[in-house]
Parts: sequence; structure tokens; C-alpha cells
Amino acid sequence: MTHVQYLEAIKTLNTYAHHYYVLDDPITTDEVYDTLYHEVVDYEESNPAKIQSNSPTQRVGDVISEGFIKAPHLSRMWSLEDLFNSDNLQKWLTKVAKLSDHISFYCEPKFDGASLNLIYNDGNLIQAITRGDGVVGEDITQNAKTIRSIPLKISHLDRIEIRGEVVIFKKDFEKINLERAKQGESLFANPRNAAAGSLRQLDSRITSSRNLVFLPYGLGENILDFPLLSEKMVFIYNLGFRRPPLRSLAKGFDEIEDTYKQMVKDRDTYEMMLDGMVIKVNEVEAQEEMGYTVKNPRWSSAYKFPAVEKITTIKDILLQVGRSGAVTPVALVEPTAIEGVVVERASLHNFDEIDRKDIRLGDKVIILRSGDVIPKIIKVLVHERKEGSLAYVRPTLCPVCSSELLDEGALTKCQNLECSSRVVNSIIYFASKPCLNIDGLGDKIVERLYEEKLIKSVIDLYDLKLEQLLELEGFKQKKSENIIKAIDASKGKECWRFINAMGIEHIGEVASKTLCSNLGLNFIHTNKEELLALDGIGEEMAESLLEFIRVNEEYIQRLQSILKPQTPAQKIEAIENPFKGKIVVLTGSMTRSRGKIKTMLEDLGAKVSGSVSKKTDYLIYGEDAGSKYDKAVDLGVKVLTESTMLAML
Ligand code: IVH
Repeated sequence: MTHVQYLEAIKTLNTYAHHYYVLDDPITTDEVYDTLYHEVVDYEESNPAKIQSNSPTQRVGDVISEGFIKAPHLSRMWSLEDLFNSDNLQKWLTKVAKLSDHISFYCEPKFDGASLNLIYNDGNLIQAITRGDGVVGEDITQNAKTIRSIPLKISHLDRIEIRGEVVIFKKDFEKINLERAKQGESLFANPRNAAAGSLRQLDSRITSSRNLVFLPYGLGENILDFPLLSEKMVFIYNLGFRRPPLRSLAKGFDEIEDTYKQMVKDRDTYEMMLDGMVIKVNEVEAQEEMGYTVKNPRWSSAYKFPAVEKITTIKDILLQVGRSGAVTPVALVEPTAIEGVVVERASLHNFDEIDRKDIRLGDKVIILRSGDVIPKIIKVLVHERKEGSLAYVRPTLCPVCSSELLDEGALTKCQNLECSSRVVNSIIYFASKPCLNIDGLGDKIVERLYEEKLIKSVIDLYDLKLEQLLELEGFKQKKSENIIKAIDASKGKECWRFINAMGIEHIGEVASKTLCSNLGLNFIHTNKEELLALDGIGEEMAESLLEFIRVNEEYIQRLQSILKPQTPAQKIEAIENPFKGKIVVLTGSMTRSRGKIKTMLEDLGAKVSGSVSKKTDYLIYGEDAGSKYDKAVDLGVKVLTESTMLAML
């Protein structure tokens, strides 16, 4: 094969693959593809310096990573506001219509998978980043390259972020679980978990084998100059991406409802799981005017599909002991597929609920699954109950440590502070996201460290030595080092995390933040009066906190001296200026980004609002100001250019 033939072969193979994986319309046989592919492999083996980055061999995934590094998105990845019924939709549409008029909506399915941000520069895929917290995700570029519906090269040369959902088709999901069951491995709960898990494999050959599919749904940073989102999306599909099914445009409530109803009706017929319909304002300028709340774009929402019900049988009732000692029953049910998800457990909440519903072993029950949450039992089919079945008897002894349980009505509690389940769960909680957020110290690892007697309390985490971890089977150098590093990095974090992590009854994340921002580390010397004066702190919380401090003062001091939590910087009162305390609206394009101007105004004590009303004090406008400018003038609101605003300062 000559070099020219090699380049030609790559082109042909990529065309075959594009037809197969993107257009769903194969134009050749596996045999023809494989023969040419092997010729390419042979050429590359003899000419390693000439390997092209878009060669299909670059997708095999023979890269084994040690871990994933964090990577920032170029622009934020947002979440969506959920709508659950037509009332919600109506309200959302009214809100949207107030922000901008003459708009239409782009509707498409909400795919149930894992979101992924692809960054292309100079036409090359340079980075693939998971969503993470929306600002920073994990770099999984090597794994993304194994996904055949992600082009390695595109014909658009400017830097662009293409966002979409990585999904597993229902048929592949079933195959994977069947295979896992055969191998005695744990099953994936649903295609979303399977997709997310497959993306985060250290061995990209596993990712490659999972038949993941990328469905583009939007853009991050881009300089595409189309007035409509639907046009931008067509541009993206034409770069070589897969066109998701069922995209349509709708004008108002009725058309959106019709599209939604059709989607709900057809949801089972799609290859991938859908969990709702995403509605997006189609006009890019209107989107820009509407902007974003803290979490969501104002111009888009997710209209969720109704939950699905199924009949199954109660096989067993398991008992879990949480960090507070509360014993929670969970129903183990005959595995049942609901919308592609295999349900094996259903929540029972507490023993009163079992009594109320008279749930018995062997009962046929209706379970309901909606969204992510663990399914609920909504009804027992009493008429199908076999004769001789017995009512459920509440446990009297802790299923973990066998000490006597205290029945507090709705709650049944293990009183033993040293009950291993309580200790392990409190350490897991301590390390969890809303607490000290210790990366890599998940449930399994905490359980293992406890079983190996390396930790008996959270304080022991800080005495762990690398050598101790390395002695454990399955704890390789890198993994062990990462754990030690992550534990160390939990020092010096915000003090609310420290307060929250202690798991004080009735004191959750919000209360911890209130305590931290008002009292800082002095919370330990507080009194009831001072606590009750704080917004959101009630009698029960104050008493619980004071009692915890009374009993655990020494422990709190010790933990504090290890963690050295940060107290918040005092918020500085803005200096006097014409915008302090004023309501300001921004519109049109200015010399700096609107985000920057917004932050500057907020630092000056202004409230920056998205829409003009009688209450607006100033409208600051740039080039191409539209309807907001007209409305401000109509209402007699003062209008300023960007430079007048600066001059006033
Ligand atoms: S748009 C600016 N469209 O849903 C809007 N998201 O709840 C950003 N998702 O993280 C999202 N299908 O992973 C959009 N057709 C679709 C989607 C979709 C699935 C996921 C996405 C996002 C989450 C938001």
C-alpha cells in the first residue's frame, strides 16, 4: 500500500463507519470493512510515523489510564428546570413569553444517558469532558475516541464545544447485563448507569466494547452565526454527528402538548431510553436576552414523562442501619424491567408503612418508578395473596450488631454507638459530596478499611499511612496514593462542610452554612438565644446542636485542629455609588461580556434582573438592543449606554 492509497483507505473506512454508526444505513459488509481495515493496520505497523489521527485504528482503545484528571469546560454546562404536568408547562410558557415575544420552540427527546462535552479545535477532537459539576468535569478523551458516532475530525476549524448525551441502546444494555449475570458480576441498574460507568473505564477497551452512542443536543462555546438553534443543530449534524430522533418545532402550548403526547405514546419504540421532552426557545437572540438562573437556562426546560407502573413480587425485606442508628426496611422484589431499567428493590420508608399497607413476603404488588428515585410500592394486590401468609413482624434486634432496638414509633433505632453499620455509614457520610467531599473514598473503600481495622472513626482517616493501604489486596500504588492525597486535601475546606460532616441530628447542609456564615468556628461557644436569632434555625435544631456540643466538645475540638476549616471572608458592603441598591437590566451586546458587567454591577450592590418592569431603575444597553429597550422607554425607565454607565462611576 502506498501512502496515497493509505489515505484513501482511511477515507473509505470512515465513510463506511459513518454510514453504519451515524446514518444507521450500512453500505458495505463486515468482511469488506475488515479486509481494508487490516490493510490499514499493516501499513501503520510498517510506517508508525505516518499514522493519521483520524484513522479508525486510533479508536481501538488500547489505552489504560491510571485515573482521570479534572478538566474545565470552556463554558458552563447547565441543568434544566423540570416540568411535570401541563400546568407547569403553562406557567413556564407564561414566564418565557414575558421575557421575550414572538418566539418558537425546538422540541426533542430528553435522552437518558451521561452528558459529554466535546471540544474541537482546528477540526480535531482535542478533549472530551464529562459534565462533572457543570464547570469542571473529568477528561475522558481516550474513551470518547472509541465511540464511533463521535467524529475524530470535523470540517469546522474554529474552536467549538459540542454537547450531547452518551447513551446505550436498550438492546445492548440487556446484552451487557445478561453477560454480567453469567460472569457473576453485579448488574447495572439502568442504561444511564451503564453509559456513565462505561465512559469512566480506566481500560478504554471496555468502553469500546459497550457500543456507546453519542447524540448531540447543543453547543457550548461557538462562533456559529445562525439566528436559530435548529439551524445550528443542522450544521452540527452535517459535521458528521448522529441526528437524534423526533426533533420538531412548535409554536405555543397546544403544539408543544401534542408533540409531548406523541412522544409519550411512542417512547417504547425508540432504541434508547427517553425520560422526557426538552423544550428550547429556538431564537438565539431571545435565548441570550433571557439568560440563566443560577442553575438553568431560562429559555429551556425538561417536560418529564409520567412514571411507569409494573406488578412484581416481594421476595424479602432487607434491613439497613443508617449512621443515626435508624433501621430502614427495603423490599427486595422479583427483578422487573420498567422502561429498560431492571428494578430489584423498592423503598418501604419505615415499619409503620409496612403495617399501613400490610405488606407481606410473597405478596404481589404494584411498583411505580419515576425518574432516578428508587421505586415505590403503591399497592398490594391482596386478592392474589396465598392462604396462610403471615403479617410482617418488626425486628427487635439490630440486624447488624444484635443489640436491642428502640421503637420510637415511625423510627426504629439501634442504640449501639459502636454498631459497625452506624460507624461505617457515618464515615461514608463524612467523606460524601456535601460534607468533606473526599474523592475516591466511596462506600466500598470505607467498608474495606473498617473491616481491615484501619479505621474505627473519622479521626483515624487522618492517621492512615500509604504503607498500610499498599498492604491490602487490590490497593495499587496510584489508587492508594490518591486516597491519601484526597484525605489530606479535605483539610482547610469551608467550615460549613466540617459542621455538616459531623452528622448532627437536624443540622443539614443549609443549617451548617447558616451557622458557618454567622458564627464561623465560634459556633462551639454559642447559646440558644444566639441560635434562635439566626434565619432558619428553629428550637429543635438549636437544642440538637447544643446537646451535640455538650456531649462531643472534645471530639469537635480535635477534629477542628486536624481539619483547620476555613471561615468565610466577611462580605464587604459596597461603597456608595449610583447603582447601589438599584435594579438594573442589561440588553444588547457590549464591549465586555454581559456576565462580567453583571458581576461588576453586583459587586457595586446592584440587583441585575433579566426583564424590564416598572421597578427597573436603569436599563443599560449595547448594540442591537431589542424589545427590552423599547419596553424601558415605554415605561419611562432611565436608559444608559455602557459608556455612560462607566462615566457615572
Ligand atoms: S439541553 C442548555 N437537550 O439533561 C440546556 N439536555 O437536565 C442543556 N439531556 O445535563 C441541556 N437529552 O445531559 C438537553 N435533548 C437534550 C437532552 C439533554 C438529555 C440531559 C443533559 C443535561 C440534562 C439536563
